[in-house]
Amino acid sequence: MPSSDGPQIIATVDALRERVGHWRGEDARVALVPTMGNLHAGHLSLVRQARLVADRVVVSIFVNPLQFGGGEDFDAYPRTLDADCAALASVGADVVFHPSVIEMYPDGTPLVTEVRLRALESVLCGEHRDGHFAGVATVVMKLFGQVQPDVAIFGRKDHQQLTLIRRLVRDLHVPVQVVAGDTVREPDGLAMSSRNRYLSDDERAIAPELQRTLRAVADRIVSGERDVVQLSAVAMQALNDAGFDPDYVRVLDALTLTEPDASTTDVVIAAAGHLGRARLIDNVTVPWEAASR
Ligand code: PAF
Repeated sequence: MPSSDGPQIIATVDALRERVGHWRGEDARVALVPTMGNLHAGHLSLVRQARLVADRVVVSIFVNPLQFGGGEDFDAYPRTLDADCAALASVGADVVFHPSVIEMYPDGTPLVTEVRLRALESVLCGEHRDGHFAGVATVVMKLFGQVQPDVAIFGRKDHQQLTLIRRLVRDLHVPVQVVAGDTVREPDGLAMSSRNRYLSDDERAIAPELQRTLRAVADRIVSGERDVVQLSAVAMQALNDAGFDPDYVRVLDALTLTEPDASTTDVVIAAAGHLGRARLIDNVTVPWEAASR
């Protein structure tokens, strides 16, 4: 069981390995919840989920420079370790792995070894954030190597990230079970995100329109509409009208992130848009096959 004083904070890979090795000696099943910190109820629900499927839980808190592009919010990204550890004590994390950038990338960046997922990383957010998913895939693969968890939990809010990690694990035969955690929402439907704190009051009032717009597209698909280009265009316009500067709204096969076709069972309706300083993402998944066959 986790200590009542809260999680142990570990900053080096060697100390982490020692701790996890000790648990392995006790035959414990180990879960990893990778985060960049500034934890909210969405992260805590992933940790609770981890506790249900494992004996020991490691939460990594690392703002990964590799996944931020030039002009993005790497420096501004909120770093709130004390508050994060207090919150993690309440949900029973055993260890917070909080390495420095040098610990993670001792040879500096760019790296010689990098994990790329070709087609999956170049659609949706990948089209707007060059190198982002290579940065995510690479740091997640490093965390898997460092922690060697039995299971790792990722939120559904970033559907593309989850899809990529599932594929990475499958393609590279990584012995980690990937479990998806449901998106936790504010009462008005806005998906919880560390970046919501960038929103002004006025922007915060507009922000739930992202989820409403996706739901409206979902309803039309469920009632049989299949013109995804038209549906996306209408949704882009709705987001523009609401005050967003949208990057995209796309309806894609939820598994392959390609255009839906006869083999598609579910589609993801995914969107990203800027609202002031915040770039928000969200998605809804709905069945596709029933009406198309
Ligand atoms: O989803 C995130 O917070 C990050 O992309 C992750 C998975 C922790 C990798 O840095």
